[in-house]
Amino acid sequence: MKIFNLKLLAGVSAVAAVLISGCDLPPQDTVQRGYRGTGMEAVYSPEALEEIIAANQVPDAIPAVSAEGPKARDIYQNVEVLGHLSVGEFTRLMAAITQWVSPEQGCNYCHVPGEGFEEDTLYTKKVARVMIAMTQNANQNWGAHVGDTGVTCYTCHRGNNVPEQVWTIGVAPRHASGHVHQMQNVAHQESSVFASLPIDPFTPYLLEDGVARDQGNTALPQGHVASIESTEQVYSLMMHYSDALGVNCTHCHNSRAFGSWEESSAERVKAWHGQQMVKSMNNDYINPTNDWLPAYRQGPLGDPQKVNCATCHQGAYQPLLGANMLADYPNLGSLAPASSDPIEEAVEAMEEMVEEAVEAMESAGLEQDDPTIGEAH
Ligand code: HEC
Ligand code: HEC
Ligand code: HEC
Ligand code: HEC
Repeated sequence: MKIFNLKLLAGVSAVAAVLISGCDLPPQDTVQRGYRGTGMEAVYSPEALEEIIAANQVPDAIPAVSAEGPKARDIYQNVEVLGHLSVGEFTRLMAAITQWVSPEQGCNYCHVPGEGFEEDTLYTKKVARVMIAMTQNANQNWGAHVGDTGVTCYTCHRGNNVPEQVWTIGVAPRHASGHVHQMQNVAHQESSVFASLPIDPFTPYLLEDGVARDQGNTALPQGHVASIESTEQVYSLMMHYSDALGVNCTHCHNSRAFGSWEESSAERVKAWHGQQMVKSMNNDYINPTNDWLPAYRQGPLGDPQKVNCATCHQGAYQPLLGANMLADYPNLGSLAPASSDPIEEAVEAMEEMVEEAVEAMESAGLEQDDPTIGEAH
């Protein structure tokens, strides 16, 4: 009996050892992020941090080339988004894109060997053109989220043809009785970080214009419309936010009042801009590529694989821990200027001449009488 107990004890401690080794071992580091007493703290495991640093190294940049010389649009035949680059810059970017998106397949992932580079035969080339514009647009117009750090193809792709973390519209599992789940209480879905929460928090907030609000401002309900279902949707999305960034809720919220923007950190505002940016990427750029995609690149409902917070962040509070790859590839920093049509150019030149003439007249004191000038205000 005694021997049996000892064996049991040994067995239990062996199991316990296995369980503990699956957790982050102490010591943990804590950093205060909000006012004292608000509990807005970040808890780090130095061990996990090492793994994150190792997973977020960036490849060496290809040596820079001159922006001088003939433009790509003067030499090449079918360039819509990179025509304003010098031929040297264009070639350098093609090499970088290959390294970031198709290092194994090389140029042939988008160009057919033996065929001219100008042909749009492969769907991957057509998608890549949209992706270039999407990246340029993010850097030019979404500074409220991506800051000066910006993004390149590598932020999402990291050497993969399709980024590792993407999503498609969720399909509700059917109940044995034929009823459709409201997509909650299925705790085996990565999308809700394995919580018993709705499995597709992305469609309402990262594709449609859903606004994540569930908290009332009054002690008793007064026309507040949030349901248990919509509340679960909000929490499911928030689980994704935290998981995608590798942070806890207090990175953005004061948990005393999740809804209060005044008590939230600046990061929450940044996250809100991120949500709007992701919606634009999914609707304005990725959805239109669906016409060309092969079925194996689509979800069960035939929609394209889309962006969420994890597509760029991949577990880091700033993608690639804030490494600024855009500085090495400034050509991805802004959209191509509007195409230079000879007629448009002539019109622009005329407009400029008229403006200059008006300015010259004004400085000579010859402007026409303006009825608003000299009126009492
Ligand atoms: C991930 C897809 C992709 C890969 C890989 C790729 N390209 Fe391209 N390539 C494009 C796209 C998209 C365009 C059109 C750009 C535009 O519209 O401004 C293009 C255009 C070109 C053109 C201009 C052809 C013309 O006359 O219009 C050349 C030359 C070229 N690529 C060379 C290369 C070389 C060399 C490699 C390998 C080092 C390469 N590309 C790898 C997507 C790719
Ligand atoms: C914000 C994240 C993000 C960035 C940045 C990004 N991509 Fe993508 N890329 C995606 C997603 C999501 C898909 C899948 C959807 C699709 O195919 O339209 C994809 C698909 C692709 C595909 C199709 C691959 C296949 O095998 O089906 C190519 C090619 C591609 N991207 C090239 C690029 C290039 C080149 C850049 C940089 C100019 C870039 N991407 C930047 C998210 C991104
Ligand atoms: C990266 C920042 C970020 C993190 C981390 C985060 N949230 Fe949020 N949270 C937001 C933003 C932004 C909104 C508003 C979204 C919108 O406008 O659609 C929001 C909204 C909410 C709301 C609705 C507030 C209201 O007005 O009704 C609740 C509740 C909430 N979050 C809880 C959480 C919980 C719980 C966690 C941790 C699991 C969490 N959040 C993690 C940024 C964050
Ligand atoms: C296209 C890539 C991309 C996507 C997608 C993306 N982010 Fe970001 N995010 C960035 C970049 C780049 C930065 C760093 C900005 C800087 O340096 O100022 C950043 C910074 C942040 C920060 C500030 C972190 C800090 O502590 O400094 C928050 C919060 C954040 N993102 C939340 C989100 C949320 C939430 C989503 C999804 C709705 C999201 N991001 C989607 C690229 C992205």
